[in-house]
Amino acid sequence: MPPETTPKNGFIIPNQKGIVIWLFGLSGSGKTTISTLLKDKLEDAGFFAMTLDGDILREGINKDLGFSESDRAENIRRAAEIARLMLKRDIITICSFITPLEQHRALAAEIIGERYFEVFLDCPLAICKERDVKGLYKDAGLNLIPNFTGVSAKFEPALNANLIIKTDTESPAQSRDKLFLEIISKISTLS
Ligand code: ADX
Repeated sequence: MPPETTPKNGFIIPNQKGIVIWLFGLSGSGKTTISTLLKDKLEDAGFFAMTLDGDILREGINKDLGFSESDRAENIRRAAEIARLMLKRDIITICSFITPLEQHRALAAEIIGERYFEVFLDCPLAICKERDVKGLYKDAGLNLIPNFTGVSAKFEPALNANLIIKTDTESPAQSRDKLFLEIISKISTLS
């Protein structure tokens, strides 16, 4: 019987080491795009990886939460607890959450522990606004969305990120490849 964690390519790297890759940055900085590209590349290389995305969790397990600082902290706490469970099973888990405050990132780091790998997707607010993939910056600018990160709610720059990726100057494929190499190198050092 195949193991319950068989990835789409049907192959599991023996003794895969789990890690939680925590992508954070403004809405429109490329978190979801890069996490999906990275997951596909990891799977193509034979690893078992999963994604946890703010927008998706907020449709289900976190649908009772809004965007106050404390609700965001609870959103992050639940996501980090889920990632921690996946880590126990040595799954490579790619999390994409705005995670706007340093205290939110510290919370995720504390829950997940030493296998927490923090990546800041650094993209200027002006570019995120220009991209405005979901039309949310436009609405936030019209005061239709309260507490919108970068507009009417705080976003603190990275202090402790393990890696910073400039998504305004490199393509999503370049960012994915950089991150992939970092992760492969990082997991090769895990005991
Ligand atoms: S976090 O701040 O708690 O980490 P999370 O990543 O889960 O946020 O959710 C962010 C997503 O929620 C955005 O990409 C956007 O689609 C949506 N959203 C809705 N309202 C807001 C808001 N006020 N601020 C930021 N994002 C919002």
